[in-house]
Amino acid sequence: MHTLKERLDVAVSIAHEAGELIRQARADQSFSQRLKAGDELVTDVDVAVDQLIRERLNTYFPDEALLSEELSPAHALNADVSKLWVVDPIDGTVNFAQGLRHVAVSIGWMEEGIAKVGVVYAPFLDETFSAAEGQGAYCNQQAIQASKVTRLAETLVGTGFPYQKEARQKLLARLNEVLAHCRDVRRNGAAALDLCDVACGRLGAYYESVSPWDFVAGWVIAREAGASVGHLGTVPEGVPADLYPNELLVTAPGVYEAMHRLLLDADHA
Ligand code: IPD
Ligand code: CA
Ligand code: CA
Repeated sequence: MHTLKERLDVAVSIAHEAGELIRQARADQSFSQRLKAGDELVTDVDVAVDQLIRERLNTYFPDEALLSEELSPAHALNADVSKLWVVDPIDGTVNFAQGLRHVAVSIGWMEEGIAKVGVVYAPFLDETFSAAEGQGAYCNQQAIQASKVTRLAETLVGTGFPYQKEARQKLLARLNEVLAHCRDVRRNGAAALDLCDVACGRLGAYYESVSPWDFVAGWVIAREAGASVGHLGTVPEGVPADLYPNELLVTAPGVYEAMHRLLLDADHA
């Protein structure tokens, strides 16, 4: 039996080792890139980092399931959630390839469908976000908290858009309402960091549909920081909410209801 704290410490050290590989790869500029599934960018660093994290987790937790973007993405929602590691080796691949700094390693762990441990490490920003259930959330070991904002007009909102161009159009009505009623919008290109930015109060809200590896770790961090976490739509029967990646809404507690209404009303405007 490992405590949550032991799991968190191992995950932080693996994320730091993975981050060093990412920093080195950028310094060397020797990686190749290609498109997967038609329009999603992937580099050979994504795969190498996934492999490294997988090897390390297998050493410490050989009997536990692992869902990772590059090496085991299939059947994500049918994964064995009794003890499950959920890994995005590079969140923000486009940023990584373009030399931008919003890039993160994301490692989450869930037990019986409840996400309990999360680490999001941003190697170019030098920030390690971490949380374990019931133990608060931290950035570089300093406790963090979600914003106290209560008005949409003062809420800075993060979001993102799917790689599939045809899926973007229907998100414009929501974006339009957010631009009309909230402070402004940021599209920083790494969902895990968007969640952490809500956790530490830099953003007042974040909404997007993603994949499990993009959000599980950041979800724990946001929840432990006092943010409200939920979905705009219904979570299907039998799927743990903490693994269900569609229509996420993560906000400062004072604006959750108002953001929820704003985004759903936009669909019928
Ligand atoms: C992407 C980023 C981006 C989000 C996309 C994700 P990737 O992850 O998190 O912010 O908008 O939906 O797929 O592909 O860089 O790991
Ligand atoms: Ca990702
Ligand atoms: Ca990724």
